Amino acid sequence: MLKVVVCVSGGGTNLQAIIDSIKSGELENTEIVEVISNNAGAYALERAKLAGIKGKCVSPKDYENREQFNEAFLAELKASGADLIVLAGFLVVIPEIVIKEYRGKIINIHPSLIPSFCGTGYYGLKVHEAALERGVKITGATVHYVDEGTDTGPIIMQKAVEVMEGDTPKILQQRVMEQAEWIILPKSIGMIAKGAK
Ligand code: GAR
Repeated sequence: MLKVVVCVSGGGTNLQAIIDSIKSGELENTEIVEVISNNAGAYALERAKLAGIKGKCVSPKDYENREQFNEAFLAELKASGADLIVLAGFLVVIPEIVIKEYRGKIINIHPSLIPSFCGTGYYGLKVHEAALERGVKITGATVHYVDEGTDTGPIIMQKAVEVMEGDTPKILQQRVMEQAEWIILPKSIGMIAKGAK
């Protein structure tokens, strides 16, 4: 059974997609052991609660300095017994000590076709704003392994989504979530879980 920790900062619709895929039986051999948020008010924590999953807030704001937060974040992950860490809209830069400890065991969902519209400053709605500004006709989402860079790790899965006439960033964001993110994130976890004991 693959033990997964999901890290979130906001609404948690990707977390919900994972929860639903496990419930429906589509995502096998996987258990979410904990949801960690840097934001105590994140609706994602409510989703965890509703699904009977342990939720915890570990916020840089609650520590004197970044180093202390990094240590606390790593300690929380270790205590969870996680085999895989899933970043599902987690807007905190992953500390190097965590990347070292979990190399090849951290994956992230990004709302564009990497290498387009990714890297520092490209997150959430900003990604879709940039895609519309550039006038691309196709966008999508990417699941990739996390390394020391921002959105630079090996790509696991991608799915393309059409941009439509009259799209706003919000409309496009919703379509990318529905047609790509909520599909390829559980699928990628499933692929990894197939190789787990
Ligand atoms: C998702 O669109 C995810 O791809 C994006 O944040 C959103 C979180 O939504 N992540 C990034 O932009 C990371 N660079 P959710 O909380 O509803 O899953």
